Amino acid sequence: MKTIIEPFKIKSVEPIRFTTKEERTKILEDAGYNPFMIHADDVLIDLLTDSGTSAMSSDQWAGIMRGDESYAGAKSFYRFESAVKKITGDEFIIPTHQGRASEKILFSILGGPGKYFASNTFFDTTRANIEFTGAEAVDLLCEVGKHPEQRAPFKGNMDIDALKAFIQKAGKENIPLVVLTVTNNSGGGQPVSMQNIREVKEVCKQNSIPLFLDACRFAENAYFIKKRENGYADKPVLEICQEMFSYADGSTMSAKKDALVNIGGWLSLNDTDLALKCRNLLIVTEGFPTYGGLAGRDLEAIAQGLEEIVDEHYLQYRIRSTEYLGEKILAAGVPIIEPPGGHAIYIDAKRFLPHVPAEQYPGQSIVCELYVEGGIRTVEIGSVMFGKYDKNGKLIPAMMELVRLAIPRRVYTQSHIDYVAEVVIDVFKRREKLKGYHITYEAPMLRHFTARFKKF
Ligand code: F0G
Repeated sequence: MKTIIEPFKIKSVEPIRFTTKEERTKILEDAGYNPFMIHADDVLIDLLTDSGTSAMSSDQWAGIMRGDESYAGAKSFYRFESAVKKITGDEFIIPTHQGRASEKILFSILGGPGKYFASNTFFDTTRANIEFTGAEAVDLLCEVGKHPEQRAPFKGNMDIDALKAFIQKAGKENIPLVVLTVTNNSGGGQPVSMQNIREVKEVCKQNSIPLFLDACRFAENAYFIKKRENGYADKPVLEICQEMFSYADGSTMSAKKDALVNIGGWLSLNDTDLALKCRNLLIVTEGFPTYGGLAGRDLEAIAQGLEEIVDEHYLQYRIRSTEYLGEKILAAGVPIIEPPGGHAIYIDAKRFLPHVPAEQYPGQSIVCELYVEGGIRTVEIGSVMFGKYDKNGKLIPAMMELVRLAIPRRVYTQSHIDYVAEVVIDVFKRREKLKGYHITYEAPMLRHFTARFKKF
Protein backbone atom coordinates (compact mmCIF):
# COMPACT_ATOMS: atom_id res chain seq x y z
CA MET A 1 0.00 0.00 0.00
CA LYS A 2 1.24 3.49 -0.86
CA THR A 3 1.63 6.40 1.59
CA ILE A 4 -1.69 7.95 2.51
CA ILE A 5 -1.24 11.56 1.44
CA GLU A 6 -2.83 14.78 2.69
CA PRO A 7 -5.89 14.97 0.41
CA PHE A 8 -5.43 18.69 -0.31
CA LYS A 9 -2.97 21.22 -1.67
CA ILE A 10 -1.93 24.21 0.39
CA LYS A 11 -2.98 27.57 -1.01
CA SER A 12 -2.39 29.89 1.91
CA VAL A 13 0.29 29.56 4.58
CA GLU A 14 0.94 30.95 8.03
CA PRO A 15 4.61 31.23 9.02
CA ILE A 16 5.87 29.59 12.21
CA ARG A 17 8.03 31.78 14.46
CA PHE A 18 11.07 29.93 15.74
CA THR A 19 12.29 30.29 19.33
CA THR A 20 15.28 28.88 21.18
CA LYS A 21 15.20 26.54 24.14
CA GLU A 22 16.50 29.35 26.39
CA GLU A 23 13.71 31.68 25.24
CA ARG A 24 11.10 29.00 25.84
CA THR A 25 12.38 28.27 29.35
CA LYS A 26 11.81 31.93 30.25
CA ILE A 27 8.45 32.12 28.44
CA LEU A 28 7.18 29.07 30.33
CA GLU A 29 8.33 30.40 33.68
CA ASP A 30 6.55 33.72 32.99
CA ALA A 31 3.43 31.76 32.07
CA GLY A 32 3.38 30.08 35.50
CA TYR A 33 4.17 26.76 33.79
CA ASN A 34 0.72 26.78 32.22
CA PRO A 35 0.79 26.57 28.41
CA PHE A 36 -2.69 28.13 28.22
CA MET A 37 -0.92 31.34 29.30
CA ILE A 38 1.67 31.28 26.50
CA HIS A 39 1.28 33.57 23.47
CA ALA A 40 0.51 31.40 20.44
CA ASP A 41 3.30 33.21 18.59
CA ASP A 42 5.77 31.58 20.98
CA VAL A 43 4.61 28.08 19.98
CA LEU A 44 6.16 26.08 17.13
CA ILE A 45 3.64 23.27 16.82
CA ASP A 46 0.35 23.87 18.58
CA LEU A 47 -1.28 20.64 19.72
CA LEU A 48 -3.20 22.29 22.54
CA THR A 49 -6.50 21.51 20.86
CA ASP A 50 -8.20 20.37 17.70
CA SER A 51 -10.98 22.84 18.48
CA GLY A 52 -11.42 25.84 16.21
CA THR A 53 -7.96 25.26 14.78
CA SER A 54 -8.93 23.62 11.47
CA ALA A 55 -7.77 25.01 8.16
CA MET A 56 -10.82 25.93 6.11
CA SER A 57 -11.14 24.92 2.46
CA SER A 58 -11.41 27.33 -0.45
CA ASP A 59 -15.12 26.44 -0.66
CA GLN A 60 -15.56 27.38 2.98
CA TRP A 61 -13.81 30.70 2.41
CA ALA A 62 -16.07 31.25 -0.59
CA GLY A 63 -18.99 30.58 1.78
CA ILE A 64 -17.66 33.29 4.06
CA MET A 65 -18.16 35.77 1.21
CA ARG A 66 -21.62 34.37 0.44
CA GLY A 67 -22.78 34.73 4.06
CA ASP A 68 -26.16 36.41 4.36
CA GLU A 69 -26.01 38.72 7.36
CA SER A 70 -29.76 39.37 7.67
CA TYR A 71 -30.81 39.43 11.32
CA ALA A 72 -33.79 37.14 10.77
CA GLY A 73 -34.34 34.38 8.22
CA ALA A 74 -30.93 34.62 6.55
CA LYS A 75 -30.33 32.37 3.54
CA SER A 76 -27.21 31.12 5.30
CA PHE A 77 -29.29 29.86 8.24
CA TYR A 78 -31.41 27.72 5.95
CA ARG A 79 -28.33 26.24 4.32
CA PHE A 80 -26.90 25.52 7.79
CA GLU A 81 -30.18 24.06 9.02
CA SER A 82 -30.48 21.75 6.06
CA ALA A 83 -26.84 20.57 6.35
CA VAL A 84 -27.31 19.78 10.07
CA LYS A 85 -30.67 18.08 9.44
CA LYS A 86 -29.15 15.93 6.73
CA ILE A 87 -26.79 14.43 9.32
CA THR A 88 -28.83 14.48 12.54
CA GLY A 89 -32.33 14.01 11.14
CA ASP A 90 -33.53 16.21 14.02
CA GLU A 91 -36.46 18.58 13.70
CA PHE A 92 -35.22 21.64 15.59
CA ILE A 93 -31.77 22.98 14.76
CA ILE A 94 -30.56 25.77 17.00
CA PRO A 95 -27.29 27.53 16.09
CA THR A 96 -24.98 28.52 18.96
CA HIS A 97 -21.55 30.09 19.07
CA GLN A 98 -19.89 26.89 20.32
CA GLY A 99 -20.49 23.60 22.13
CA ARG A 100 -20.60 24.94 25.65
CA ALA A 101 -23.26 27.49 24.70
CA SER A 102 -25.49 24.59 23.66
CA GLU A 103 -24.65 22.83 26.93
CA LYS A 104 -25.39 25.95 28.96
CA ILE A 105 -28.83 26.31 27.40
CA LEU A 106 -29.73 22.61 27.61
CA PHE A 107 -28.55 21.99 31.16
CA SER A 108 -29.88 25.29 32.55
CA ILE A 109 -33.30 24.04 31.50
CA LEU A 110 -32.95 20.37 32.46
CA GLY A 111 -30.54 20.56 35.39
CA GLY A 112 -30.82 21.74 38.98
CA PRO A 113 -30.28 20.25 42.44
CA GLY A 114 -31.41 16.63 42.77
CA LYS A 115 -30.92 15.89 39.07
CA TYR A 116 -28.43 13.37 37.66
CA PHE A 117 -26.88 13.06 34.23
CA ALA A 118 -24.86 10.12 32.93
CA SER A 119 -22.36 9.83 30.11
CA ASN A 120 -19.62 7.51 28.90
CA THR A 121 -17.40 10.44 29.96
CA PHE A 122 -18.48 14.06 30.20
CA PHE A 123 -16.11 16.59 28.69
CA ASP A 124 -14.98 19.23 31.21
CA THR A 125 -17.25 22.05 29.96
CA THR A 126 -20.23 19.70 29.86
CA ARG A 127 -19.57 18.53 33.41
CA ALA A 128 -19.09 22.16 34.52
CA ASN A 129 -22.37 23.25 32.93
CA ILE A 130 -24.21 20.42 34.71
CA GLU A 131 -22.55 20.99 38.08
CA PHE A 132 -23.11 24.74 37.79
CA THR A 133 -26.88 24.08 38.01
CA GLY A 134 -26.42 22.00 41.18
CA ALA A 135 -27.00 18.70 39.34
CA GLU A 136 -24.62 15.75 39.34
CA ALA A 137 -22.67 14.41 36.35
CA VAL A 138 -21.70 10.73 36.44
CA ASP A 139 -19.26 8.96 34.09
CA LEU A 140 -20.03 5.34 33.25
CA LEU A 141 -17.19 4.34 30.96
CA CYS A 142 -16.74 0.66 30.10
CA GLU A 143 -13.98 -1.06 32.08
CA VAL A 144 -11.51 -1.48 29.21
CA GLY A 145 -11.69 2.27 28.55
CA LYS A 146 -10.05 2.87 31.93
CA HIS A 147 -6.90 0.94 31.04
CA PRO A 148 -4.63 2.89 28.68
CA GLU A 149 -2.46 -0.11 27.78
CA GLN A 150 -5.33 -2.42 26.82
CA ARG A 151 -6.34 -2.47 23.18
CA ALA A 152 -9.99 -2.72 22.20
CA PRO A 153 -11.86 -1.38 19.19
CA PHE A 154 -14.44 0.70 21.09
CA LYS A 155 -12.97 1.92 24.33
CA GLY A 156 -15.39 4.86 24.38
CA ASN A 157 -18.39 2.62 25.05
CA MET A 158 -20.67 3.14 28.01
CA ASP A 159 -20.95 0.38 30.60
CA ILE A 160 -24.53 -0.81 30.09
CA ASP A 161 -24.81 -2.62 33.44
CA ALA A 162 -23.50 0.47 35.22
CA LEU A 163 -26.11 2.56 33.39
CA LYS A 164 -28.90 0.25 34.53
CA ALA A 165 -27.63 0.31 38.11
CA PHE A 166 -27.31 4.10 37.97
CA ILE A 167 -30.92 4.52 36.79
CA GLN A 168 -32.09 2.17 39.54
CA LYS A 169 -30.22 4.12 42.18
CA ALA A 170 -30.85 7.72 41.06
CA GLY A 171 -34.44 7.07 39.92
CA LYS A 172 -35.43 7.59 36.31
CA GLU A 173 -37.56 10.62 37.21
CA ASN A 174 -34.38 12.37 38.39
CA ILE A 175 -32.43 11.71 35.20
CA PRO A 176 -33.40 14.22 32.52
CA LEU A 177 -30.84 13.00 29.99
CA VAL A 178 -28.12 10.49 29.15
CA VAL A 179 -25.27 11.72 26.94
CA LEU A 180 -22.91 9.74 24.74
CA THR A 181 -19.74 11.64 23.87
CA VAL A 182 -18.55 10.58 20.41
CA THR A 183 -15.64 10.12 20.27
CA ASN A 184 -14.78 10.08 23.95
CA ASN A 185 -12.43 13.05 24.18
CA SER A 186 -11.52 12.82 27.87
CA GLY A 187 -10.97 9.07 27.55
CA GLY A 188 -8.46 9.10 24.72
CA GLY A 189 -10.49 10.05 21.65
CA GLN A 190 -11.81 6.50 21.63
CA PRO A 191 -14.90 5.64 19.60
CA VAL A 192 -18.30 4.35 20.67
CA SER A 193 -19.68 1.42 18.67
CA MET A 194 -23.04 1.47 16.93
CA GLN A 195 -24.03 -1.51 19.02
CA ASN A 196 -23.30 0.41 22.21
CA ILE A 197 -25.29 3.43 20.99
CA ARG A 198 -28.18 1.07 20.22
CA GLU A 199 -27.96 -0.61 23.62
CA VAL A 200 -27.77 2.67 25.52
CA LYS A 201 -30.78 3.89 23.55
CA GLU A 202 -32.71 0.72 24.45
CA VAL A 203 -32.07 1.17 28.19
CA CYS A 204 -32.98 4.88 27.94
CA LYS A 205 -36.17 4.07 26.05
CA GLN A 206 -37.29 1.52 28.64
CA ASN A 207 -36.91 4.23 31.27
CA SER A 208 -38.27 7.12 29.18
CA ILE A 209 -34.98 9.02 29.39
CA PRO A 210 -33.87 10.91 26.28
CA LEU A 211 -30.44 10.14 24.82
CA PHE A 212 -28.31 12.97 23.41
CA LEU A 213 -25.03 12.80 21.54
CA ASP A 214 -22.20 15.15 22.40
CA ALA A 215 -21.42 15.01 18.72
CA CYS A 216 -18.19 17.05 18.40
CA ARG A 217 -16.28 14.29 16.59
CA PHE A 218 -19.17 12.35 15.06
CA ALA A 219 -17.49 11.80 11.67
CA GLU A 220 -14.30 10.42 13.22
CA ASN A 221 -16.47 8.11 15.32
CA ALA A 222 -18.37 6.99 12.22
CA TYR A 223 -15.14 6.23 10.39
CA PHE A 224 -13.98 4.01 13.26
CA ILE A 225 -17.32 2.18 13.07
CA LYS A 226 -16.78 1.67 9.36
CA LYS A 227 -13.31 0.26 9.92
CA ARG A 228 -13.91 -1.75 13.10
CA GLU A 229 -17.52 -2.84 13.44
CA ASN A 230 -19.04 -5.79 11.62
CA GLY A 231 -21.45 -4.88 8.89
CA TYR A 232 -20.27 -1.33 8.23
CA ALA A 233 -17.26 -1.75 5.93
CA ASP A 234 -19.25 -1.02 2.79
CA LYS A 235 -21.53 1.66 4.18
CA PRO A 236 -20.86 5.30 3.25
CA VAL A 237 -19.73 7.31 6.30
CA LEU A 238 -22.65 9.71 5.86
CA GLU A 239 -25.09 6.82 6.32
CA ILE A 240 -23.20 5.63 9.40
CA CYS A 241 -23.45 9.16 10.84
CA GLN A 242 -27.16 9.23 10.08
CA GLU A 243 -27.64 5.89 11.83
CA MET A 244 -25.69 7.10 14.91
CA PHE A 245 -27.90 10.17 15.20
CA SER A 246 -31.08 8.17 14.51
CA TYR A 247 -30.82 6.58 17.98
CA ALA A 248 -30.45 9.95 19.68
CA ASP A 249 -33.17 12.39 20.66
CA GLY A 250 -30.88 15.32 20.11
CA SER A 251 -27.31 16.55 20.08
CA THR A 252 -25.02 19.25 21.33
CA MET A 253 -22.24 20.11 18.93
CA SER A 254 -19.08 22.12 18.80
CA ALA A 255 -18.69 22.81 15.08
CA LYS A 256 -15.10 23.79 15.93
CA LYS A 257 -14.24 20.10 15.62
CA ASP A 258 -15.98 17.97 13.00
CA ALA A 259 -17.51 20.84 11.04
CA LEU A 260 -14.04 22.16 10.17
CA VAL A 261 -14.68 25.75 11.26
CA ASN A 262 -13.09 28.17 13.68
CA ILE A 263 -16.27 29.00 15.58
CA GLY A 264 -19.79 27.62 15.83
CA GLY A 265 -22.04 24.97 17.27
CA TRP A 266 -25.58 23.73 17.51
CA LEU A 267 -28.22 22.22 19.70
CA SER A 268 -30.50 19.83 17.82
CA LEU A 269 -33.56 18.14 19.22
CA ASN A 270 -37.02 16.75 18.49
CA ASP A 271 -38.99 17.65 21.61
CA THR A 272 -41.22 20.60 20.71
CA ASP A 273 -41.61 21.90 24.26
CA LEU A 274 -37.95 21.65 25.08
CA ALA A 275 -37.02 23.30 21.76
CA LEU A 276 -39.29 26.22 22.59
CA LYS A 277 -37.64 26.67 25.98
CA CYS A 278 -34.17 26.38 24.45
CA ARG A 279 -34.96 28.98 21.79
CA ASN A 280 -36.32 31.37 24.38
CA LEU A 281 -33.14 31.09 26.40
CA LEU A 282 -31.08 31.32 23.20
CA ILE A 283 -32.62 34.71 22.46
CA VAL A 284 -31.51 35.94 25.89
CA THR A 285 -27.98 34.56 25.79
CA GLU A 286 -26.93 33.97 22.16
CA GLY A 287 -29.16 35.70 19.64
CA PHE A 288 -32.17 35.28 17.39
CA PRO A 289 -32.86 31.62 16.49
CA THR A 290 -31.73 31.98 12.88
CA TYR A 291 -28.20 33.00 13.81
CA GLY A 292 -27.58 31.97 17.44
CA GLY A 293 -24.25 33.43 18.43
CA LEU A 294 -22.93 33.43 14.88
CA ALA A 295 -22.63 35.57 11.78
CA GLY A 296 -24.30 34.39 8.58
CA ARG A 297 -20.86 33.72 7.12
CA ASP A 298 -20.08 31.31 9.97
CA LEU A 299 -23.27 29.37 9.23
CA GLU A 300 -22.17 29.03 5.59
CA ALA A 301 -18.74 27.75 6.59
CA ILE A 302 -20.30 25.13 8.88
CA ALA A 303 -22.72 23.95 6.18
CA GLN A 304 -19.82 23.51 3.76
CA GLY A 305 -17.61 21.90 6.43
CA LEU A 306 -20.27 19.29 7.12
CA GLU A 307 -20.09 18.20 3.48
CA GLU A 308 -16.31 17.94 3.59
CA ILE A 309 -16.05 16.11 6.91
CA VAL A 310 -17.79 12.96 5.67
CA ASP A 311 -15.41 12.67 2.70
CA GLU A 312 -13.74 9.31 3.15
CA HIS A 313 -10.39 10.36 1.69
CA TYR A 314 -10.30 13.09 4.29
CA LEU A 315 -11.24 10.71 7.12
CA GLN A 316 -8.75 8.08 6.01
CA TYR A 317 -5.99 10.72 6.07
CA ARG A 318 -7.23 12.15 9.35
CA ILE A 319 -7.38 8.88 11.29
CA ARG A 320 -4.17 7.60 9.72
CA SER A 321 -2.16 10.74 10.55
CA THR A 322 -3.11 10.46 14.21
CA GLU A 323 -2.29 6.76 14.21
CA TYR A 324 1.05 7.51 12.50
CA LEU A 325 2.16 9.71 15.39
CA GLY A 326 0.94 7.13 17.90
CA GLU A 327 2.79 4.27 16.23
CA LYS A 328 6.03 6.25 15.98
CA ILE A 329 6.26 7.12 19.67
CA LEU A 330 4.92 3.76 20.76
CA ALA A 331 7.72 2.07 18.82
CA ALA A 332 10.20 4.06 20.95
CA GLY A 333 8.53 2.79 24.12
CA VAL A 334 6.46 5.89 24.96
CA PRO A 335 3.32 4.75 26.82
CA ILE A 336 0.11 6.03 25.23
CA ILE A 337 -3.55 5.20 25.29
CA GLU A 338 -3.85 2.30 22.88
CA PRO A 339 -5.00 2.10 20.23
CA PRO A 340 -4.48 5.71 19.03
CA GLY A 341 -7.65 7.81 19.14
CA GLY A 342 -9.24 9.88 16.38
CA HIS A 343 -8.18 13.46 17.02
CA ALA A 344 -5.30 13.07 19.43
CA ILE A 345 -2.60 10.93 20.96
CA TYR A 346 -2.72 10.67 24.73
CA ILE A 347 0.52 10.00 26.54
CA ASP A 348 0.01 7.95 29.69
CA ALA A 349 1.85 10.12 32.21
CA LYS A 350 1.53 7.56 35.02
CA ARG A 351 3.68 5.09 33.12
CA PHE A 352 5.88 7.79 31.53
CA LEU A 353 6.81 9.27 34.94
CA PRO A 354 6.23 6.54 37.56
CA HIS A 355 8.37 8.50 40.02
CA VAL A 356 6.05 11.55 39.99
CA PRO A 357 2.89 10.98 42.10
CA ALA A 358 -0.54 12.31 41.06
CA GLU A 359 -0.26 15.07 43.71
CA GLN A 360 2.72 16.41 41.76
CA TYR A 361 0.91 16.35 38.42
CA PRO A 362 3.04 14.13 36.18
CA GLY A 363 1.07 15.18 33.09
CA GLN A 364 1.87 18.85 33.67
CA SER A 365 5.54 17.99 33.98
CA ILE A 366 5.55 16.34 30.53
CA VAL A 367 3.54 19.21 29.04
CA CYS A 368 6.16 21.70 30.27
CA GLU A 369 9.07 19.64 29.01
CA LEU A 370 7.59 19.18 25.52
CA TYR A 371 7.27 22.94 25.28
CA VAL A 372 10.80 23.69 26.43
CA GLU A 373 12.36 20.93 24.34
CA GLY A 374 10.57 21.53 21.06
CA GLY A 375 8.10 24.41 21.35
CA ILE A 376 5.22 21.94 21.25
CA ARG A 377 2.12 22.98 23.13
CA THR A 378 -0.02 20.18 24.56
CA VAL A 379 -2.50 19.88 27.41
CA GLU A 380 -2.69 17.88 30.62
CA ILE A 381 -5.85 15.80 30.96
CA GLY A 382 -5.44 14.39 34.43
CA SER A 383 -5.47 15.63 37.99
CA VAL A 384 -4.90 19.26 36.98
CA MET A 385 -8.01 19.20 34.80
CA PHE A 386 -10.21 16.79 36.75
CA GLY A 387 -8.69 16.57 40.24
CA LYS A 388 -10.90 17.48 43.19
CA TYR A 389 -10.26 17.98 46.90
CA ASP A 390 -11.70 16.04 49.80
CA LYS A 391 -12.95 17.69 53.03
CA ASN A 392 -9.41 17.95 54.29
CA GLY A 393 -8.09 19.59 51.17
CA LYS A 394 -6.33 16.44 49.99
CA LEU A 395 -6.29 15.86 46.24
CA ILE A 396 -8.66 13.24 44.87
CA PRO A 397 -6.75 12.37 41.70
CA ALA A 398 -8.35 11.89 38.29
CA MET A 399 -8.88 8.37 36.95
CA MET A 400 -6.01 8.79 34.47
CA GLU A 401 -3.00 11.09 34.13
CA LEU A 402 -2.75 11.98 30.46
CA VAL A 403 -1.06 14.44 28.13
CA ARG A 404 -3.05 15.13 25.00
CA LEU A 405 -1.41 15.87 21.68
CA ALA A 406 -4.45 17.07 19.74
CA ILE A 407 -4.01 17.36 16.01
CA PRO A 408 -5.63 20.33 14.26
CA ARG A 409 -7.49 19.31 11.11
CA ARG A 410 -5.71 19.89 7.76
CA VAL A 411 -3.05 22.12 9.39
CA TYR A 412 0.18 20.16 9.86
CA THR A 413 2.01 17.97 7.37
CA GLN A 414 3.80 14.68 7.91
CA SER A 415 7.15 16.38 8.59
CA HIS A 416 5.59 18.46 11.37
CA ILE A 417 4.35 15.22 12.89
CA ASP A 418 7.77 13.57 12.48
CA TYR A 419 9.27 16.52 14.39
CA VAL A 420 6.69 16.09 17.16
CA ALA A 421 7.59 12.40 17.48
CA GLU A 422 11.30 13.28 17.71
CA VAL A 423 10.67 15.76 20.53
CA VAL A 424 8.46 13.35 22.48
CA ILE A 425 11.06 10.61 22.18
CA ASP A 426 13.83 13.00 23.28
CA VAL A 427 11.93 13.91 26.41
CA PHE A 428 11.08 10.25 27.06
CA LYS A 429 14.75 9.31 26.95
CA ARG A 430 15.54 11.62 29.85
CA ARG A 431 12.29 11.08 31.74
CA GLU A 432 14.04 10.15 35.00
CA LYS A 433 15.20 13.75 35.35
CA LEU A 434 11.69 15.26 35.09
CA LYS A 435 10.26 16.72 38.30
CA GLY A 436 6.73 17.26 39.60
CA TYR A 437 4.84 20.55 40.04
CA HIS A 438 2.61 22.14 42.65
CA ILE A 439 -0.19 24.64 42.14
CA THR A 440 0.30 28.20 43.40
CA TYR A 441 -2.99 29.66 42.10
CA GLU A 442 -6.25 28.05 40.99
CA ALA A 443 -9.77 29.20 40.07
CA PRO A 444 -12.74 27.47 41.73
CA MET A 445 -13.93 25.89 38.43
CA LEU A 446 -12.11 24.73 35.29
CA ARG A 447 -8.86 25.53 37.07
CA HIS A 448 -6.58 24.14 34.35
CA PHE A 449 -7.15 27.16 32.13
CA THR A 450 -5.69 29.70 34.53
CA ALA A 451 -3.77 27.78 37.21
CA ARG A 452 -0.17 28.73 37.96
CA PHE A 453 2.48 26.22 38.98
CA LYS A 454 5.94 25.93 40.52
CA LYS A 455 8.45 23.16 39.99
CA PHE A 456 9.46 20.96 42.92
N1 F0G B 1 -17.74 18.34 24.21
C1 F0G B 1 -16.57 17.80 23.85
C2 F0G B 1 -16.43 16.31 23.74
C3 F0G B 1 -15.47 18.63 23.58
O1 F0G B 1 -14.32 18.08 23.23
C4 F0G B 1 -15.63 20.04 23.69
C5 F0G B 1 -14.51 20.93 23.47
C6 F0G B 1 -16.88 20.54 24.05
C7 F0G B 1 -17.91 19.66 24.30
C8 F0G B 1 -17.12 22.02 24.19
O2 F0G B 1 -17.12 22.65 22.96
O3 F0G B 1 -15.19 24.23 23.09
O4 F0G B 1 -17.00 24.51 21.40
O5 F0G B 1 -17.44 24.97 23.76
N2 F0G B 1 -13.33 20.55 23.44
C9 F0G B 1 -12.16 21.35 23.19
C10 F0G B 1 -10.94 20.50 23.40
C11 F0G B 1 -12.12 22.64 23.92
O6 F0G B 1 -9.83 21.05 23.38
O7 F0G B 1 -11.06 19.29 23.54
P1 F0G B 1 -16.65 24.17 22.81
